[in-house]
Amino acid sequence: MNVCLITAVSHPGCTAHIRDAFVAQLNSLMPEAQISHQFVLPEDGPAYCLGCKACFDQDMSACPHRTVTLPIWHAMEDANLLVFITPTYVFSIPGQLKALLDHFGSRWIVHKPSPKMLGKQALIINQAVGAGFRSTLIPLKHSLRFWGVKRVYSIKVRLGMTDYDLVDQKVKTKLSRKIEEKIRIIEDEKRDVSPGFVAKLLYRAMAIGHRGIHKMLQKKGQPVASDYLFWQKEGWLDGRFPWKDKA
Ligand SMILES: Cc1cc2nc3c(=O)[nH]c(=O)nc-3n(C[C@H](O)[C@H](O)[C@H](O)COP(=O)(O)O)c2cc1C
Repeated sequence: MNVCLITAVSHPGCTAHIRDAFVAQLNSLMPEAQISHQFVLPEDGPAYCLGCKACFDQDMSACPHRTVTLPIWHAMEDANLLVFITPTYVFSIPGQLKALLDHFGSRWIVHKPSPKMLGKQALIINQAVGAGFRSTLIPLKHSLRFWGVKRVYSIKVRLGMTDYDLVDQKVKTKLSRKIEEKIRIIEDEKRDVSPGFVAKLLYRAMAIGHRGIHKMLQKKGQPVASDYLFWQKEGWLDGRFPWKDKA
């Protein structure tokens, strides 16, 4: 099992300790799993999205930040499991993680999705001193779901302290138990790589949506949308969805 591990901050604090604890538990509970790619933000991530929409109007390879974003996207496509380790910053994800997610907006199922995302699993470990977990998890979960990832698990860790050495041992033990629980679920589910129900529903709905938008644009004498051409090339507008080829 290939794992793509993304750490949202590079500061050597609680997030880094939690990441290292996760890797140690993964190695011991699932020895066949390997961290195939690892990225630490902001150093390994892109600059802010400029809003040029080249990824929507053409594709991701037209992005001004493609030298950074494409390797990360391909690493995620190659992985069976995506892992995000992130603190909460002002009740949300840190800006550098949001900047990364913004660059992959064109890969949401509504635009130019990658079928390689279907059937994948993802784990988010979110730590915070006290509050803001729900609103931190939402943007990450939205992206993962709309890329087509099948199962998204999350762990919330309320540290109570910003210095990891001062964090109560009970909190660390509870975190370790939660990590073990999620790794065991991921192990159990790893063979089922069939696309999830919601992703399939979205593909079907968007096939209808793109045909409708195309007709409307034609009536108005507008050029054919790049998303429509992508869906047409893939055969999805005719119902030849990615999972149809699979046994
Ligand atoms: C800019 C900033 C904003 C933060 N916002 C929150 C917050 O909204 N809620 C919270 O419980 N902790 C918040 N924290 C604490 C972090 O989530 C985290 O627990 C703390 O930075 C320790 O992790 P670290 O050592 O990896 O930096 C914030 C920290 C920073 C630096």
